Amino acid sequence: MMPAAVRSDPAPFLERCFLFDAVEAAYSIVPEGDVPAWLRGSYYVNGPARFSRGEFRYRHWLDGDGMVCTLHFDANGVHFVNRFVRTTKRADEEAAGRPLYRGFGTAFPGDRLRHGLMLEPPVNVSVYPFAGTLLAFGEQSLPVAMDPLTLETIGEYDVHGRLNEVSPFSAHAKFDPATGHMVNFGIAYGASSPSLTIYEFDALGHLLQRRRHVLEMPHSNHDFGLSRRHVVFFLNPLVIDVARLLSGTSLIDAFSWKPEARARIFIAPRGGTRDAAFSIEVSAGCCLHQINTFEHGDELVVDVLEMDAPIYPQYQPIPDLFATAPLGRPMRYRIDLRTRSVVDRMAMPYDRTPDFPSVDPRLSGERYDEFWMLGISAAGTPGRKFFDQIVRASWREQDVIDRHQLAPGHYVGGEPIVMFNPHDDEDAVVIVQHLDAEAGTAAFELYDAFALSRGPMARLPLRHRIHPGFHASFLRRDA
Ligand SMILES: [Fe+2]
Repeated sequence: MMPAAVRSDPAPFLERCFLFDAVEAAYSIVPEGDVPAWLRGSYYVNGPARFSRGEFRYRHWLDGDGMVCTLHFDANGVHFVNRFVRTTKRADEEAAGRPLYRGFGTAFPGDRLRHGLMLEPPVNVSVYPFAGTLLAFGEQSLPVAMDPLTLETIGEYDVHGRLNEVSPFSAHAKFDPATGHMVNFGIAYGASSPSLTIYEFDALGHLLQRRRHVLEMPHSNHDFGLSRRHVVFFLNPLVIDVARLLSGTSLIDAFSWKPEARARIFIAPRGGTRDAAFSIEVSAGCCLHQINTFEHGDELVVDVLEMDAPIYPQYQPIPDLFATAPLGRPMRYRIDLRTRSVVDRMAMPYDRTPDFPSVDPRLSGERYDEFWMLGISAAGTPGRKFFDQIVRASWREQDVIDRHQLAPGHYVGGEPIVMFNPHDDEDAVVIVQHLDAEAGTAAFELYDAFALSRGPMARLPLRHRIHPGFHASFLRRDA
């Protein structure tokens, strides 16, 4: 008879998704099933991929060194490449054969910071094509340029000298689908007032605008929303005590959650307007990722994934993640831009701690209805768990309208990006990682974006395991 502790584990074999040495490789894949002929271009996903060095074990999901995986879809088939981002952190630690730098969730005696000020970035959060190169991003640090085909690291990317090696620059750069502009932000936690700087670059990386805003609190902020006319932040009462970080704690131990200080939605105009930025106090939980933001007449619609509490503490200890994860749900805020007030706040009933929301990239910042995300079926029950649902939701229907549930011991990783057939708006695919923890194998899978419950339409088996990724992107090269 199976011991009760094993039988009740809602995440069997989850350790096999994290505790192994990643292999770098490049090879062609023989797909099982049908890859649409119209799907041409390169898929990219970044994520942490090393959680130990020698006997040393890192604690937190955000501690691992960034590894980018790509799938090149062309007339010859599908080609896979994965490589670590060659950061200073990784190079120095490889040479030393031991950990040297403090992690997001792991501190140790003698650990180092970059210039004594900030984490030496593992560059493990996101990856986006921009201005002819591929940029891997970490949290509030300089992106690293990589070759878009081979994933060879080129070096830190300072956007034509506009940033320096201690410039805060978020992992959630946004790209205006109409112009190709890159908009991003950085938060500086100086000895005086914390400040948020918003940058807008043209499609070649030339700076168009840089504006600095003073913040009332040293907010930890990960993501933002970009509409045609506004840049929108959901500022949680999750604050960072930088003095604690500088005194030797990990970053996560420098966070504090102050729900008594309410969240604020901070709205700044984009270039070409003299309108002032403003913020609105809201009664809310904690938002890590925003779904989309757009104007509709005099209204600004701000869609977010709102958790009952911060999620970062649930990213540890590796591999026992999400043990006491809060519930969360999609939330829509409608804001009257004339009165600067929230006129409606609407929650979807789906509460399976969803994350990694994704919309049709052509509708980023525009009116839209549907989006895709990952969910955790065991949300709300104690014990480690992980993403095992891919879902599609509709604001018109005000709920999840389609989902695929994986079997126990199988997990899904990577933002479920959706790519549309350029000739047919009713034809689209979602790409995710499928991690079979029991068998110790991994694959990428393609789903019909409008029929998730049918299961994958194509499976792209990999030769080696990969770690669950964070954010993904797709560079189109239409046939
Ligand atoms: Fe993110």
